[in-house]
Amino acid sequence: MIRNQWYVVLESSEVKDRPIGVTRMGEKMVFWREKSGRVRAAVDRCPYRGVALSAGKVVQDHLQCPFHGFEYDASGACTRVPAYGRHGVIPRALRLSTYPTYEAHGFIWIWWGNPVPQDLQPPEFFDNLDSSYEWASAQDLWNVHYSRVVENQLDVMHLPFVHRNTIGRGNRTVVDGPVVVWKGEQRFRIYVYNRVDDGRPARRAAELAPKPEGSQYLEFLFPNLWQNYITDKVSIVAAFVPVDEEHTLLYLRFYQRFNRLPVLG
Ligand code: FES
Repeated sequence: MIRNQWYVVLESSEVKDRPIGVTRMGEKMVFWREKSGRVRAAVDRCPYRGVALSAGKVVQDHLQCPFHGFEYDASGACTRVPAYGRHGVIPRALRLSTYPTYEAHGFIWIWWGNPVPQDLQPPEFFDNLDSSYEWASAQDLWNVHYSRVVENQLDVMHLPFVHRNTIGRGNRTVVDGPVVVWKGEQRFRIYVYNRVDDGRPARRAAELAPKPEGSQYLEFLFPNLWQNYITDKVSIVAAFVPVDEEHTLLYLRFYQRFNRLPVLG
């Protein structure tokens, strides 16, 4: 997995004030929400005896281990060892590893890397998806490394074959393109023109006129966000969340702004 990146790892609704334990990036992690609403993340293993902190509690914003009651703050410092007494001296080496977090657009990101840059900038998202959209979400676990999911979701040539009765219908098997347009260092858009095989060979990107503004495209935002822009009112977004080397959890969202009634939306 590629280090030193912000990864979407959870939906906001999954993290409440109680600790939640999940496996991400092949590591057991614990997430919790402070009273202020801020989400925190740490390795889900007490540095004392290795107990899962996700089985513990949040006490005044600190994570409390369920075994001997040690408490850790958001920086990972141990702030309380009940057996030492209220004024006992806590060894500085007793530290929990934590992850920087960021929350926006109903997603939670962690910075997965080392060291954490001093000037760490927040992660990016899709600029077109503002508050005028409603969205609904679902999850799907795939038994594959997340890089293969990325590859699959950008592979438009398989659509007329594998999905010939649904999204690839019409027997438009010839693929002109793909056209790839970089939109900064972290993202690119990709689109193709599909057509029925009329004997003319497929054309390269350089032979094609750009698609008009507002046309369908796929957008990939490194390292694990994807958008299928369908119209200016409908998009599908996916976060390919690495669980471990062999599993990826897809967070799928359907965004729309043609219907603002929440229930129907
Ligand atoms: S194992 Fe965590 S406090 Fe004992």
